[in-house]
Amino acid sequence: MVALSTERGRYVYLETFGCQMNENDTGRMMGLLKDMAFKTTERPDAADLIIINTCSVRDKAEHKLYSILGRFKELKEERPGLIIAVAGCVAQQLGAALFKRAPYIDLVIGTQNVHRLKEILERPLPLRRVAVTEFRGSIDANEYAHNDATDGGKAFVAIMRGCDNFCTYCIVPYTRGAEASRKSSDILREVSALVNDGVKEVTLVGQNVNSYGRGSGADVSFPELLRMTAATDGIRRVRFMTSHPKDISGELIDVFQQTPVLCRHLHLPVQSGSDSILKMMRRGYTAAQYLEKTRRIRQRYPDISLTSDIIVGFPGETDADFEATMLLINEARFDNVFAFIYSPRPGTEAAGYAGQVPAEIKAFRLQTILETQREITLAGNRALEGSIQEVMVEDRGARPGAERKISGRTSCGRIVHFHCEEGLSTGSEVRVIITAAHQNSLRGEFIAHAAQGQATVA
Ligand code: SAH
Ligand code: SF4
Ligand code: F3S
Repeated sequence: MVALSTERGRYVYLETFGCQMNENDTGRMMGLLKDMAFKTTERPDAADLIIINTCSVRDKAEHKLYSILGRFKELKEERPGLIIAVAGCVAQQLGAALFKRAPYIDLVIGTQNVHRLKEILERPLPLRRVAVTEFRGSIDANEYAHNDATDGGKAFVAIMRGCDNFCTYCIVPYTRGAEASRKSSDILREVSALVNDGVKEVTLVGQNVNSYGRGSGADVSFPELLRMTAATDGIRRVRFMTSHPKDISGELIDVFQQTPVLCRHLHLPVQSGSDSILKMMRRGYTAAQYLEKTRRIRQRYPDISLTSDIIVGFPGETDADFEATMLLINEARFDNVFAFIYSPRPGTEAAGYAGQVPAEIKAFRLQTILETQREITLAGNRALEGSIQEVMVEDRGARPGAERKISGRTSCGRIVHFHCEEGLSTGSEVRVIITAAHQNSLRGEFIAHAAQGQATVA
């Protein structure tokens, strides 16, 4: 039996890819490892445990994993006691097959078994070499009890897992399983504990948060959960993602009005502006229905930031379909867009569709979107010049001598760089006048501390 070394302390090196669900899983693994007295290290060669938390939503995910693992193979040869674990969506998909492909892997931990990491690491070696990838159905309270995913006063809190939507291009329902929700009391207990530990901003995360309350486990609606979370003593900002446009309700839109600590940002992935492509994607709305929702939201909250995801080159996407997407982008005037080239995912419906679009056309369409959106984003940022924004400090300037170069975020999520003669702590809230707009950030000057107890509304 090979025991984990303890004399010099134990170190874990973690690499995380993918979405906020993976960030949350990493946070939970870190929580469990902290209980086992592990410390984190930035250096794989100093680690006793290496965990790669993988994503398979696009590109050559498997290939990418093997090339990352290749970097650690030599370390394992030098130090056979080193433990290499693969977690996340690629781990879930490939399971025990990973041992065959990369025999130096010790542990494969699927997306619904993150909470078992500690128990497995404590096993003697032969029992530790396992692939745990079974889906569990409903959520037990203890699965989410160890979140250590706090970063500069911010934390991701998972409210649910899985997805039942089966958009035809998407791997997530296969890698994350069926939708299940956590009980509101468990979520609120976690939020309170985080806030007591100094967290000021909580992001409630799920692949489709608007379904919270519909699948197994939840006892209140999502808008109600938002109101309850926002009522947590000491919490300053609440965010959530991701929302599915087909499920955005009037009640959810109302919550922004009633709940000032709820940040003025809505990420609402549209994916395409063409009705026939949306239908083939199985998104459950038309471009006109989507635009109507964004119009209603903007009418009510003119300063809200709307962001979106778009896929170009879905099978069968014609020039006319792409034109429809460009029209939608020009009409919706998103504050920002994340545009992706369609990537066929093994086992998904769309991977077998006829009419796969050639790579150079996909690349051209992506560039076209990015150029247009750059102008729209910059214009939106410029419109904020001269305005006063409430900013929560995230970075006080890590370099020596850079104490006065501070950055933070507005309620709508924009990054603001500013100077302040006095030292400010992470998580403090200040009022800043915006003096210049750039593509990805704003520049400003410190005016005053924001009044505590007053909501942060940009
Ligand atoms: N649950 C969220 C998004 C999950 S994945 C939602 O429904 O909106 C994040 C983004 O990745 C998606 O919004 C989509 O734009 C993109 N994506 C997912 N599958 C993809 C694929 N096969 N190829 C390219 N982009 C994809
Ligand atoms: Fe994927 Fe669609 Fe589920 Fe989002 S809603 S995770 S895009 S299947
Ligand atoms: Fe990637 Fe899995 Fe998230 S595929 S986007 S890490 S749910």
